[in-house]
Amino acid sequence: MSTANGTPEEGPAGAGTQAQPPEQAPAPASAPGQVAAKTGHEISVSGLNAYYGSQHAVKGIDIHFPANEVTALIGPSGSGKSTVVRCINRMHEEIPGARATGSVTLNDVDLYGPSVDLTSVRRLIGMVFQKPNPFPTMSIRDNVAAGLKLTGTKPNDIKERVEKSLRSVGLWDEVKDRLGSPGIGLSGGQQQRLCIARAVAVEPEVILMDEPCSALDPGATLKVEELVDELKSRYTIVIVTHNMQQAARVANSTVFLMEGEVIEHSPTNELFTRPKDERTERYVTGKFG
Ligand SMILES: Nc1ncnc2c1ncn2[C@@H]1O[C@H](COP(=O)(O)OP(=O)(O)OP(=O)(O)O)[C@@H](O)[C@H]1O
Ligand SMILES: [Mg+2]
Repeated sequence: MSTANGTPEEGPAGAGTQAQPPEQAPAPASAPGQVAAKTGHEISVSGLNAYYGSQHAVKGIDIHFPANEVTALIGPSGSGKSTVVRCINRMHEEIPGARATGSVTLNDVDLYGPSVDLTSVRRLIGMVFQKPNPFPTMSIRDNVAAGLKLTGTKPNDIKERVEKSLRSVGLWDEVKDRLGSPGIGLSGGQQQRLCIARAVAVEPEVILMDEPCSALDPGATLKVEELVDELKSRYTIVIVTHNMQQAARVANSTVFLMEGEVIEHSPTNELFTRPKDERTERYVTGKFG
Protein backbone atom coordinates (compact mmCIF):
# COMPACT_ATOMS: atom_id res chain seq x y z
CA MET A 1 0.00 0.00 0.00
CA SER A 2 0.95 3.56 -0.21
CA THR A 3 -1.87 5.68 1.01
CA ALA A 4 -1.86 9.32 1.81
CA ASN A 5 -4.93 10.82 3.33
CA GLY A 6 -7.37 11.67 0.60
CA THR A 7 -5.62 9.99 -2.34
CA PRO A 8 -7.95 9.29 -5.23
CA GLU A 9 -7.63 5.52 -4.89
CA GLU A 10 -9.74 5.67 -1.76
CA GLY A 11 -13.32 5.93 -2.84
CA PRO A 12 -15.90 7.11 -0.33
CA ALA A 13 -16.88 4.52 2.26
CA GLY A 14 -19.55 2.37 0.73
CA ALA A 15 -18.50 3.04 -2.85
CA GLY A 16 -18.75 -0.63 -3.03
CA THR A 17 -18.59 -1.98 -6.57
CA GLN A 18 -15.08 -3.17 -5.90
CA ALA A 19 -13.73 -6.54 -4.92
CA GLN A 20 -14.05 -7.28 -1.24
CA PRO A 21 -12.13 -9.47 1.12
CA PRO A 22 -13.73 -12.90 1.32
CA GLU A 23 -16.63 -13.07 3.75
CA GLN A 24 -15.57 -16.34 5.25
CA ALA A 25 -12.77 -18.69 4.30
CA PRO A 26 -14.34 -22.08 3.68
CA ALA A 27 -13.69 -24.39 6.59
CA PRO A 28 -11.87 -27.53 5.46
CA ALA A 29 -14.14 -30.52 5.90
CA SER A 30 -12.89 -32.68 8.73
CA ALA A 31 -13.34 -36.42 8.70
CA PRO A 32 -14.93 -38.05 11.77
CA GLY A 33 -12.42 -38.33 14.56
CA GLN A 34 -10.25 -35.51 13.25
CA VAL A 35 -9.80 -32.39 15.28
CA ALA A 36 -11.84 -29.66 13.61
CA ALA A 37 -9.66 -27.20 11.75
CA LYS A 38 -9.59 -23.66 13.01
CA THR A 39 -11.70 -21.42 10.86
CA GLY A 40 -10.43 -18.06 11.99
CA HIS A 41 -8.72 -15.24 10.22
CA GLU A 42 -5.17 -14.05 10.61
CA ILE A 43 -3.74 -10.60 10.18
CA SER A 44 -0.22 -9.92 9.03
CA VAL A 45 1.38 -6.54 9.21
CA SER A 46 4.61 -6.19 7.21
CA GLY A 47 6.96 -3.31 6.79
CA LEU A 48 4.34 -0.99 8.25
CA ASN A 49 5.31 2.66 8.55
CA ALA A 50 2.87 5.24 9.84
CA TYR A 51 3.33 8.97 9.81
CA TYR A 52 1.58 12.03 11.20
CA GLY A 53 2.85 14.72 8.88
CA SER A 54 6.62 14.40 9.11
CA GLN A 55 6.49 12.49 12.38
CA HIS A 56 7.42 8.84 11.85
CA ALA A 57 5.27 7.13 14.51
CA VAL A 58 5.52 3.47 13.43
CA LYS A 59 8.79 2.35 11.92
CA GLY A 60 8.69 -0.55 9.52
CA ILE A 61 7.18 -3.13 11.83
CA ASP A 62 6.16 -6.75 11.15
CA ILE A 63 3.58 -8.44 13.38
CA HIS A 64 1.64 -11.63 12.76
CA PHE A 65 -1.68 -11.90 14.59
CA PRO A 66 -2.69 -15.58 14.54
CA ALA A 67 -6.29 -16.59 13.96
CA ASN A 68 -8.47 -17.17 17.04
CA GLU A 69 -5.84 -15.89 19.39
CA VAL A 70 -5.65 -12.81 21.56
CA THR A 71 -2.57 -10.72 20.88
CA ALA A 72 -1.78 -7.93 23.34
CA LEU A 73 0.08 -4.77 22.39
CA ILE A 74 1.94 -3.21 25.29
CA GLY A 75 4.45 -0.39 25.52
CA PRO A 76 5.01 3.07 26.93
CA SER A 77 2.68 5.94 26.12
CA GLY A 78 3.41 7.22 22.62
CA SER A 79 5.05 3.98 21.48
CA GLY A 80 2.56 3.60 18.62
CA LYS A 81 0.07 1.01 19.91
CA SER A 82 -3.07 2.93 18.92
CA THR A 83 -1.51 3.91 15.61
CA VAL A 84 -0.81 0.27 14.74
CA VAL A 85 -4.37 -0.70 15.63
CA ARG A 86 -5.80 2.13 13.53
CA CYS A 87 -3.64 1.10 10.57
CA ILE A 88 -5.14 -2.40 10.73
CA ASN A 89 -8.67 -1.21 10.00
CA ARG A 90 -7.60 1.78 7.91
CA MET A 91 -8.73 4.40 10.38
CA HIS A 92 -5.26 5.95 10.53
CA GLU A 93 -5.66 7.48 7.09
CA GLU A 94 -8.77 9.36 8.27
CA ILE A 95 -6.60 11.60 10.43
CA PRO A 96 -5.65 14.76 8.52
CA GLY A 97 -2.01 14.62 7.45
CA ALA A 98 -1.63 10.95 8.41
CA ARG A 99 -0.39 8.28 6.01
CA ALA A 100 0.92 4.75 6.08
CA THR A 101 3.08 2.49 3.91
CA GLY A 102 3.72 -1.24 4.04
CA SER A 103 1.12 -3.96 4.02
CA VAL A 104 -1.66 -5.31 6.18
CA THR A 105 -3.25 -8.56 5.07
CA LEU A 106 -6.36 -10.35 6.33
CA ASN A 107 -5.61 -13.93 5.37
CA ASP A 108 -4.21 -13.31 1.90
CA VAL A 109 -6.10 -10.14 1.09
CA ASP A 110 -4.14 -6.90 1.12
CA LEU A 111 -6.41 -4.52 3.02
CA TYR A 112 -4.73 -1.58 1.34
CA GLY A 113 -5.06 -3.05 -2.14
CA PRO A 114 -6.66 -0.82 -4.76
CA SER A 115 -9.68 -3.11 -5.15
CA VAL A 116 -10.61 -3.33 -1.46
CA ASP A 117 -13.33 -1.01 -0.23
CA LEU A 118 -13.20 0.67 3.14
CA THR A 119 -16.68 -0.29 4.28
CA SER A 120 -15.95 -3.97 4.00
CA VAL A 121 -12.61 -3.58 5.79
CA ARG A 122 -14.36 -1.88 8.72
CA ARG A 123 -17.11 -4.50 8.79
CA LEU A 124 -14.62 -7.33 8.89
CA ILE A 125 -12.43 -5.63 11.45
CA GLY A 126 -14.46 -4.23 14.35
CA MET A 127 -13.11 -1.77 16.86
CA VAL A 128 -13.76 -1.08 20.52
CA PHE A 129 -12.36 2.09 22.03
CA GLN A 130 -10.93 3.11 25.37
CA LYS A 131 -13.98 5.04 26.48
CA PRO A 132 -17.32 3.31 25.99
CA ASN A 133 -18.95 5.29 23.18
CA PRO A 134 -22.55 4.20 22.66
CA PHE A 135 -24.37 6.43 20.17
CA PRO A 136 -25.78 8.97 22.63
CA THR A 137 -29.21 9.46 21.11
CA MET A 138 -29.88 5.79 20.44
CA SER A 139 -31.59 3.13 22.49
CA ILE A 140 -29.79 -0.02 23.60
CA ARG A 141 -31.46 -1.91 20.74
CA ASP A 142 -30.57 0.67 18.11
CA ASN A 143 -26.98 0.88 19.26
CA VAL A 144 -26.52 -2.81 18.55
CA ALA A 145 -28.55 -2.62 15.35
CA ALA A 146 -26.77 0.46 13.95
CA GLY A 147 -24.19 -1.41 11.87
CA LEU A 148 -26.74 -4.02 10.78
CA LYS A 149 -28.97 -1.35 9.28
CA LEU A 150 -26.02 0.08 7.37
CA THR A 151 -25.16 -3.33 5.96
CA GLY A 152 -28.73 -3.86 4.77
CA THR A 153 -29.84 -6.59 7.21
CA LYS A 154 -33.60 -7.29 7.02
CA PRO A 155 -35.71 -5.95 9.96
CA ASN A 156 -36.73 -9.47 11.05
CA ASP A 157 -33.13 -10.61 11.13
CA ILE A 158 -32.07 -7.50 13.01
CA LYS A 159 -34.19 -8.42 16.03
CA GLU A 160 -32.60 -11.84 16.19
CA ARG A 161 -29.07 -10.51 15.71
CA VAL A 162 -29.55 -7.88 18.43
CA GLU A 163 -30.52 -10.57 20.93
CA LYS A 164 -27.72 -12.88 19.85
CA SER A 165 -25.12 -10.12 20.12
CA LEU A 166 -26.34 -8.98 23.53
CA ARG A 167 -26.32 -12.59 24.72
CA SER A 168 -22.79 -13.09 23.45
CA VAL A 169 -21.53 -10.24 25.65
CA GLY A 170 -23.54 -11.42 28.66
CA LEU A 171 -25.77 -8.36 28.61
CA TRP A 172 -29.09 -9.79 27.43
CA ASP A 173 -30.53 -10.63 30.84
CA GLU A 174 -29.46 -7.28 32.21
CA VAL A 175 -31.12 -5.23 29.44
CA LYS A 176 -33.85 -7.35 27.83
CA ASP A 177 -36.61 -5.41 29.59
CA ARG A 178 -35.23 -2.01 28.63
CA LEU A 179 -34.10 -2.38 25.04
CA GLY A 180 -35.80 0.91 24.15
CA SER A 181 -33.96 2.90 26.84
CA PRO A 182 -30.93 5.01 25.95
CA GLY A 183 -27.61 3.13 25.71
CA ILE A 184 -25.91 5.86 27.70
CA GLY A 185 -28.20 5.05 30.65
CA LEU A 186 -26.18 1.89 31.33
CA SER A 187 -23.22 1.65 33.71
CA GLY A 188 -19.74 2.14 32.24
CA GLY A 189 -19.04 -1.60 32.19
CA GLN A 190 -22.41 -2.32 30.62
CA GLN A 191 -21.81 0.40 28.04
CA GLN A 192 -18.49 -1.16 27.09
CA ARG A 193 -20.15 -4.56 26.67
CA LEU A 194 -22.84 -2.82 24.61
CA CYS A 195 -20.09 -1.43 22.37
CA ILE A 196 -18.61 -4.90 22.04
CA ALA A 197 -22.10 -6.21 21.17
CA ARG A 198 -22.35 -3.49 18.53
CA ALA A 199 -18.98 -4.57 17.12
CA VAL A 200 -19.85 -8.29 17.02
CA ALA A 201 -23.37 -7.72 15.63
CA VAL A 202 -22.05 -7.27 12.09
CA GLU A 203 -20.11 -10.55 12.43
CA PRO A 204 -16.58 -9.27 11.98
CA GLU A 205 -13.56 -11.54 11.71
CA VAL A 206 -11.19 -9.49 13.80
CA ILE A 207 -11.86 -7.29 16.84
CA LEU A 208 -9.44 -4.52 17.74
CA MET A 209 -9.66 -3.24 21.30
CA ASP A 210 -7.74 -0.15 22.32
CA GLU A 211 -7.50 -0.15 26.13
CA PRO A 212 -11.10 -1.36 26.44
CA CYS A 213 -11.00 -1.57 30.23
CA SER A 214 -9.15 1.58 31.15
CA ALA A 215 -12.36 3.39 32.13
CA LEU A 216 -13.84 0.40 33.99
CA ASP A 217 -13.78 -0.73 37.59
CA PRO A 218 -12.21 -4.11 38.48
CA GLY A 219 -15.54 -5.99 38.37
CA ALA A 220 -16.47 -4.67 34.94
CA THR A 221 -12.90 -5.26 33.77
CA LEU A 222 -13.13 -8.89 34.81
CA LYS A 223 -16.33 -9.32 32.83
CA VAL A 224 -14.77 -7.84 29.70
CA GLU A 225 -11.70 -10.03 30.13
CA GLU A 226 -13.86 -13.14 30.45
CA LEU A 227 -15.71 -12.04 27.37
CA VAL A 228 -12.46 -11.60 25.41
CA ASP A 229 -11.51 -15.12 26.35
CA GLU A 230 -14.83 -16.44 25.05
CA LEU A 231 -14.82 -14.33 21.89
CA LYS A 232 -11.47 -15.64 20.72
CA SER A 233 -13.08 -18.93 19.72
CA ARG A 234 -14.87 -16.93 17.02
CA TYR A 235 -12.66 -13.94 16.39
CA THR A 236 -9.05 -12.91 16.18
CA ILE A 237 -8.49 -10.28 18.83
CA VAL A 238 -5.92 -7.53 19.20
CA ILE A 239 -5.98 -5.76 22.56
CA VAL A 240 -3.96 -2.72 23.58
CA THR A 241 -3.41 -2.49 27.30
CA HIS A 242 -1.33 -0.64 29.85
CA ASN A 243 -2.21 -3.28 32.37
CA MET A 244 0.41 -6.04 32.45
CA GLN A 245 -1.80 -8.32 34.50
CA GLN A 246 -4.50 -7.94 31.91
CA ALA A 247 -2.12 -8.92 29.10
CA ALA A 248 -0.97 -11.86 31.21
CA ARG A 249 -4.57 -12.94 31.85
CA VAL A 250 -6.03 -12.66 28.36
CA ALA A 251 -3.35 -12.78 25.69
CA ASN A 252 -1.82 -15.80 23.97
CA SER A 253 1.07 -13.69 22.80
CA THR A 254 2.23 -10.18 23.60
CA VAL A 255 4.01 -7.58 21.50
CA PHE A 256 6.19 -5.02 23.24
CA LEU A 257 6.45 -1.77 21.29
CA MET A 258 8.79 1.11 21.97
CA GLU A 259 9.24 4.30 19.96
CA GLY A 260 7.37 2.86 17.00
CA GLU A 261 9.34 -0.37 16.83
CA VAL A 262 8.58 -3.94 17.83
CA ILE A 263 11.11 -4.84 20.47
CA GLU A 264 9.75 -8.31 21.17
CA HIS A 265 6.79 -10.52 20.29
CA SER A 266 6.62 -13.70 22.35
CA PRO A 267 4.12 -16.05 23.98
CA THR A 268 2.75 -13.95 26.84
CA ASN A 269 4.07 -16.11 29.61
CA GLU A 270 7.56 -16.04 28.12
CA LEU A 271 7.54 -12.29 27.54
CA PHE A 272 6.74 -11.68 31.18
CA THR A 273 8.93 -14.33 32.76
CA ARG A 274 11.86 -14.71 30.35
CA PRO A 275 11.96 -11.60 28.16
CA LYS A 276 14.55 -11.81 25.39
CA ASP A 277 15.32 -8.11 25.28
CA GLU A 278 16.63 -6.11 28.17
CA ARG A 279 14.25 -3.23 27.30
CA THR A 280 11.26 -5.57 27.59
CA GLU A 281 12.54 -6.76 30.93
CA ARG A 282 12.87 -3.21 32.21
CA TYR A 283 9.39 -2.31 31.00
CA VAL A 284 7.58 -5.36 32.35
CA THR A 285 9.28 -5.02 35.70
CA GLY A 286 8.09 -1.41 35.93
CA LYS A 287 11.51 0.23 35.61
CA PHE A 288 10.18 2.69 33.00
CA GLY A 289 7.09 3.61 31.06
N1 LIG B 1 -3.65 12.41 15.76
C1 LIG B 1 -2.34 12.54 15.91
N2 LIG B 1 -1.67 13.58 15.38
C2 LIG B 1 -0.33 13.72 15.52
N3 LIG B 1 0.45 12.83 16.16
C3 LIG B 1 -0.15 11.78 16.72
C4 LIG B 1 -1.57 11.57 16.63
N4 LIG B 1 -1.88 10.43 17.27
C5 LIG B 1 -0.72 9.94 17.75
N5 LIG B 1 0.32 10.76 17.42
C6 LIG B 1 1.74 10.56 17.77
O1 LIG B 1 2.17 9.29 17.31
C7 LIG B 1 2.97 8.62 18.29
C8 LIG B 1 2.30 7.29 18.64
O2 LIG B 1 1.06 7.59 19.28
P1 LIG B 1 0.01 6.48 19.70
O3 LIG B 1 -1.23 7.20 20.07
O4 LIG B 1 -0.05 5.45 18.65
O5 LIG B 1 0.73 5.88 20.99
P2 LIG B 1 0.18 4.84 22.07
O6 LIG B 1 1.24 3.81 22.24
O7 LIG B 1 -1.18 4.40 21.71
O8 LIG B 1 0.14 5.76 23.38
P3 LIG B 1 -0.87 5.71 24.65
O9 LIG B 1 -0.41 4.55 25.47
O10 LIG B 1 -0.62 7.01 25.34
O11 LIG B 1 -2.27 5.58 24.15
C9 LIG B 1 3.09 9.58 19.46
O12 LIG B 1 4.30 10.27 19.34
C10 LIG B 1 1.91 10.51 19.29
O13 LIG B 1 2.17 11.78 19.81
MG1 LIG C 1 -3.08 4.65 22.61
